Amino acid sequence: MTTNPGSSPAGEFKAADLYAKIQRAFTPHQPISLPELLAGRLGLIHRVTDAVNTEGLHVVLYGDRGTGKTSIARVVAHLVQEPEKPSGRRCVLISCTADDSFTGIWRKVGQEVLLTQRQIGFLQQETRAITGRLDLDSAVVSPSDARIFLESIDNQTVIVIDEFDRVRDPGTRSLMADTIKFFSDHGVRATLILVGVGKSLSDLLQEHLSISRNIAQVPVDPMGMAELAQIIQNGCKFTGLKYAEGLDTEIAKLSQGYPHYTHLLGLWAGRKAIEARHLEITFEDLEKAIPDVLRNAAGGLQEQYERAVDSTNPNALFKEVLLACALVRKDSLGRFGVGALAEPLELITGKEYKTSAAYQAHLGRFCETDRGPVLERSGEIKSYRWRFLNPQLIPYVVLQGVSGKMIQASRVGPRQRT
Ligand SMILES: Nc1ncnc2c1ncn2[C@@H]1O[C@H](COP(=O)(O)OP(=O)(O)OP(=O)(O)O)[C@@H](O)[C@H]1O
Ligand SMILES: [Mg+2]
Repeated sequence: MTTNPGSSPAGEFKAADLYAKIQRAFTPHQPISLPELLAGRLGLIHRVTDAVNTEGLHVVLYGDRGTGKTSIARVVAHLVQEPEKPSGRRCVLISCTADDSFTGIWRKVGQEVLLTQRQIGFLQQETRAITGRLDLDSAVVSPSDARIFLESIDNQTVIVIDEFDRVRDPGTRSLMADTIKFFSDHGVRATLILVGVGKSLSDLLQEHLSISRNIAQVPVDPMGMAELAQIIQNGCKFTGLKYAEGLDTEIAKLSQGYPHYTHLLGLWAGRKAIEARHLEITFEDLEKAIPDVLRNAAGGLQEQYERAVDSTNPNALFKEVLLACALVRKDSLGRFGVGALAEPLELITGKEYKTSAAYQAHLGRFCETDRGPVLERSGEIKSYRWRFLNPQLIPYVVLQGVSGKMIQASRVGPRQRT
C-alpha cells in the first residue's frame, strides 16, 4: 500500500524538481523555524507560549544534544510575534559561543534588534540610540542596564538565547540568572528564553534556586515514534513522493528518538528513489541510503564509533556489545545493567550467553579514554549501571549494525525506556 499521492504523473519524471524539493523537506543540519514543518511537540510549544504570555515568567529549554530544542524555540518565536502590529511583540534569537560574556550576549541582542527593525519593524525612535550604545564593549554590564535597554523599546520583546550551555564564564551565567530575577521583580516587559544542552536547569544556571518560581523549566526529551514518523509523512507530502507501507515507522525506529537521523534517512532514501526514477520510496531505497546517512551524520560520530570498536582481533565483540548497549531497554535516565545485554546480544550473534563473562569486560573498556569513552558507569559494584555519554551515538550504532548486517532493520525496536 502507498500513502501520499505523488505530485508528478508517471511519464513526467522531473528529477531536478524532486531533488530540490526533497532537500527542502528534509533538513538534517538545520533547525525548523516554521510551525507547519514541525512534527509533534505541541505540548511543549503550548508550555513555552503560555510562559511567554505570563508576566514575570521566563523559560529554560534544556535536554540532550539534538533533541529539537532550537526548533521549538524558533517555532515559538514565530508564533508569538505580532509583525502586523507596529508596537506588537517582537522576537530576537541569538546563539552563544564559549567566550561570550554578559556584555557580549547583550551586544548580540542589540544587533539582532537592529536587524529585526529593518525586517519587520520595532518602533524605532529611542531604540536606535540605545542599541547604538550597545556597540561599546562596556554597554550592558548589569541586569539593570539590560532593563534600561529593553524598556527603551516600545515593543514587548522575547529574547531567545540559544546554546547557552556553551558559555564558559560562570559569572556570565550567574548574571543571566540575576537578570531573570530582576526582570520578574521589576515587571520588565520582556521574556528571556534560555536554550541549551543539559540534564536540568542547574546545568545551565547554577546555584539560583530563588529564581525557580520565575522560570518555566521545559525539558526537551528525545521524540516519540509517532512524531518521528510524522517527519517522514510531512516530508513526503511536501515532496510529492509516496512511501512503502511501514517505511515511516521503520525510519522512526531507526532514529531512536533523534530527529536529525529521521531527516537524514528521509533525505537519502528519497534521493535513492529519485535516482532509480520511481515516485515511491521503498525499503530497498532505505537500505541503500544507510551508508550515506552514516557518512553524513553530524558531530564526529563516525570517529567516535571507530575509536570505540577498534580492534585487530576478528573475534573481539566490541561492535556487537556496543550494538547490544544501543538496543537494550534503558531506564528513564538512559541507564542499563549488564544482565539485560544478554538478550540483544543473542539476537545479534545468534549465540546463547548464560553469564556475562564474555562481554562484561567490554563495558569497562568502553568507559576508558582510549575507546572514547563512549559509556559512563555509575552505582555500586555488582549493581553497576551504564549509559551512553553521547546519546546521539545510539542511533548511529544501530545504523552501523544494520549496515554491517549484524541486525535486520525490521528487528530494531523503538527507543526503549522502562
Ligand atoms: N519537531 C520536529 N519536527 C521536525 N524536525 C525536527 C523537529 N525537531 C527537530 N527537528 C530536526 O532535528 C534536527 C535537530 O534539531 P535542533 O537543531 O532543533 O535540535 P537541538 O536540540 O537544538 O540540537 P543541538 O543540541 O545540537 O543544539 C534538525 O534537523 C531539525 O530540523
Ligand atoms: Mg540547538
